[in-house]
Amino acid sequence: MNDIFIDRTAPDPTRRHFLWSCAAGAAALGLARRNALAQAVEASGLGAAFKGIFHIGAAVSTFTLERQIEPELALLAREFTSLTPENCMKWQEIRPNNAEWRFGPADKLVEFGTANGMYLVGHTLVWHSQVPRNLFSDPSGAPLDRLALLARMEEHIDTLVGRYRGRIAAWDVVNEAINEGNGWRRSRWLEIIGEDFMEHAFRFAHAADPDARLLYNDYNMHNPRKRAFLLGVLRDYLDRGVPIHGIGLQGHIGLDYPDMEEWEKSIAAYASLGLEVHVTELDVDVLPNPNSPTAEVSTRGEYSEAIDPYREGLPEAVEEALAQRYRLVFEILLEHRPAVKRVTMWGLHDGISWKNNFPIRGRTNHPLLFDRDLRPKRAYFELLALAATLRS
Ligand code: GLA
Repeated sequence: MNDIFIDRTAPDPTRRHFLWSCAAGAAALGLARRNALAQAVEASGLGAAFKGIFHIGAAVSTFTLERQIEPELALLAREFTSLTPENCMKWQEIRPNNAEWRFGPADKLVEFGTANGMYLVGHTLVWHSQVPRNLFSDPSGAPLDRLALLARMEEHIDTLVGRYRGRIAAWDVVNEAINEGNGWRRSRWLEIIGEDFMEHAFRFAHAADPDARLLYNDYNMHNPRKRAFLLGVLRDYLDRGVPIHGIGLQGHIGLDYPDMEEWEKSIAAYASLGLEVHVTELDVDVLPNPNSPTAEVSTRGEYSEAIDPYREGLPEAVEEALAQRYRLVFEILLEHRPAVKRVTMWGLHDGISWKNNFPIRGRTNHPLLFDRDLRPKRAYFELLALAATLRS
């Protein structure tokens, strides 16, 4: 365990870059904000700057954990107070077939986070995606029936949640179970078990760790129809004592989508039920959306340089737009404290973000707070400056 403890006060490989970038960032922000910035930097990191307000988290890649990439681990420990595994706890990775568990990277994440006093999030127990092909069938290939699939779900949740009981603070119990048109997503879970598959997942997770905070997590949470359906489910769960404690808004957003007023309405609605709100997978896509109705039909779905304009870096104006987008998100979240418990970035730095390959493979995206050299970007300093205003 100790070999992966990061001493926050010790010099680390990213520190020089960091200080250099602080100077550059401070210059960019202008005189008025320098004092606040200096104080926040003194406090060492974004997580520290938002301490007592909400956790600042990052999703950690399996590669970072398996190879123990030192500069990335140092950055995680310095800047973040919460960790989520990007992939290594998903069913397909941690249990590629029913007989085999692969706990290695997940154990490393939990050891690292525990050693560094971080708020750990498990992701994710029940999802339609990234599952092994035979999850829904018996050894002969026949589909499982309701009871058999419930038993498999229970055993999986009991083993995984139980293994990290007392160390993982919150779980994304069910991921993406609701569709965009006001109803349950058609998935094998729904088809085989029925609509109560979700409440069973929460009950199993609660039995495995009664102290863990249990979340429902989804994307496009600004969508009013999705919100309306989910609110109905939540009211019913709360009335009947189904153990759910919070909602995860993934937060895969862009510079000009979604409608942030609708996003905020969702936050307010979940908070009004007494539920915690977690932003679980924040990133801001800066590239042209090839699926938008205004995109050239010829560019949809395929790589072209026209839809990969920032291969050499972000122009000043886009860097600033990104910073302002992050600021807006955080300002909204600050309006809703104390319901908001955490904001997690989906990835550590731009070089390893999934957004470089989605929805088009091989583009150069810049969605996070740290660039490809692990240097903090303008958006980072914008958030530091925002945090400093909360303390003045
Ligand atoms: C969803 C999932 C995440 C991740 C992202 C894309 O949001 O919840 O685990 O797979 O998609 O990387």
